[in-house]
Amino acid sequence: MLVELVNGSPHKNGSTALALREVETILQEEGIETHTFWVGTKAIGGCLGCGKCAELGKCVIDDKVNEFRELAQKADGFIFGSPVHYAALAGNVKSFMDRLFFSEFQGNQNRAFRLKPAAGVAVARRCGSATAFSQLNKYFTIQEMFVVSSRYWNDVFALTPDQVPEDKEGLCNMRVIARNMAYFLRCQEAARRAGVPLPKVEPPVFTNFTR
Ligand SMILES: Cc1cc2nc3c(=O)[nH]c(=O)nc-3n(C[C@H](O)[C@H](O)[C@H](O)COP(=O)(O)O)c2cc1C
Repeated sequence: MLVELVNGSPHKNGSTALALREVETILQEEGIETHTFWVGTKAIGGCLGCGKCAELGKCVIDDKVNEFRELAQKADGFIFGSPVHYAALAGNVKSFMDRLFFSEFQGNQNRAFRLKPAAGVAVARRCGSATAFSQLNKYFTIQEMFVVSSRYWNDVFALTPDQVPEDKEGLCNMRVIARNMAYFLRCQEAARRAGVPLPKVEPPVFTNFTR
């Protein structure tokens, strides 16, 4: 079983990376394979709303988003981490998530996320992590993913990576996410082996409120 951890920070080894590493250590201890994907420092453009992903099964802009989409097909679970910028997700992560999940929403082939577990992690100096955390959860819940929770909302407070170890509660919550994710993956695997049927697919209904 493989969990992809996405570091949405421009800092490869910044505070977000350290928070994710705490999750990763425990996942590995629980026997789960992990891979970390860094979104990098190159600008990730926002969604063009061109709808081409419905035909292509991937985004028309061929960058980190499509690179991750390929990896996501093979993953069983996901942790998406972002630093907080102006009380919200960092700009690159917002664009990354919009295009990643819009191409999932549009494409009936190559579904990478449906019925897989996910958790979001937000890292801030002081304020805005709850907003970023709920932004992340919205991508998961629009795609029939299972949100793995912890004992609080998933945030770690630090201005710089050296401050991360000081947030003992935040790091404890990271470890709880990992334990719960590992447990959930084992349950899914057991269900698969026992032949528990997947939920029936409801034909989509798409209205703009009532029309
Ligand atoms: C452009 C920018 C905006 C920021 N806005 C916030 C903010 O609104 N609230 C906050 O608590 N921290 C804010 N921070 C601080 C970062 O969230 C914090 O330094 C975090 O540890 C960075 O994580 P990283 O090392 O993974 O990038 C901001 C940092 C930058 C660069």
